[in-house]
Amino acid sequence: MSGLTEAELQGQVAIITGAGGGIGAAIARRLAQMGVLTFLCGRRRAALEGTAAAIVKAGGQAEIAECDVTDLGSVESVAALVERKSGRADILVNNAGVGSLAGPLHQMSPSSWEQVMNTNLRGVYYCMRSFAPMMIRAGRGHIVNISSLAGKNALPNGAAYAASKWGLNGLSYSVAEELRGHSIRVSVVCPGSVNTDLGPHQGKDPKKMLQPEDVAHVVAMLVTQEPRSFVSEILLRPTQKP
Ligand SMILES: NC(=O)c1ccc[n+]([C@@H]2O[C@H](COP(=O)([O-])OP(=O)(O)OC[C@H]3O[C@@H](n4cnc5c(N)ncnc54)[C@H](OP(=O)(O)O)[C@@H]3O)[C@@H](O)[C@H]2O)c1
Repeated sequence: MSGLTEAELQGQVAIITGAGGGIGAAIARRLAQMGVLTFLCGRRRAALEGTAAAIVKAGGQAEIAECDVTDLGSVESVAALVERKSGRADILVNNAGVGSLAGPLHQMSPSSWEQVMNTNLRGVYYCMRSFAPMMIRAGRGHIVNISSLAGKNALPNGAAYAASKWGLNGLSYSVAEELRGHSIRVSVVCPGSVNTDLGPHQGKDPKKMLQPEDVAHVVAMLVTQEPRSFVSEILLRPTQKP
């Protein structure tokens, strides 16, 4: 056998943060298309409803869970909702993230620093803290953290964003070691520039940039990997430099 079939994913449950648009919405649509029940998380209900409507129209299943990943109580409420409604959490995609306004670090305000770190790094900790126990009890699970090539390279004028993603990579590699004994896999995906609202992508050709569906395809590849092995990290680049 070379991987899990879509039939084997039927009935699984995925929680996707930042599912109201961009990469998160594409991941949710792709997983739902594979028969997975998707819980869509984000702060803006209207955006989540848009993603849910597209999923249901295509024959998939989606539940909306308003959530601010920077608020532990909010994340814990979503974990309780998932437990109550489905009793399982097979896949957690930590995708919610914010960029930082372009500029040198010494001109960045402490509140902007906090927003970037609290969303991109603390938020992932809160989600893993809230959902890992359910996975441990089940003796299975897959956590996919959406990082960035900015977590592998220097990003002048985006230092805080780069630091949050370098931190996320270290967090992911370490938690992967903590959880693999429970048959829980942790993978980190580092895409280059993706054509979404998250910016800035000054001077880049949107047609040559990665599309959200390219990242969703990678997530589909990861979760269909036969459970005896896992891909710990993927670096995803557009073929043509944008
Ligand atoms: N676009 C790129 O070039 C690129 C490249 C590499 C990696 N990434 C990463 O990919 C991920 C998705 O980004 P994207 O490009 O799809 O950007 P996006 O379109 O701006 O989506 C970001 C999502 O995160 C959600 N979010 C932000 N703060 C949140 C919070 N406190 N709690 C819950 N949800 C929150 C937003 O929803 P609400 O506002 O409704 O909460 C939004 O749906 C991010 O982690 C980003 O760093 C992006």
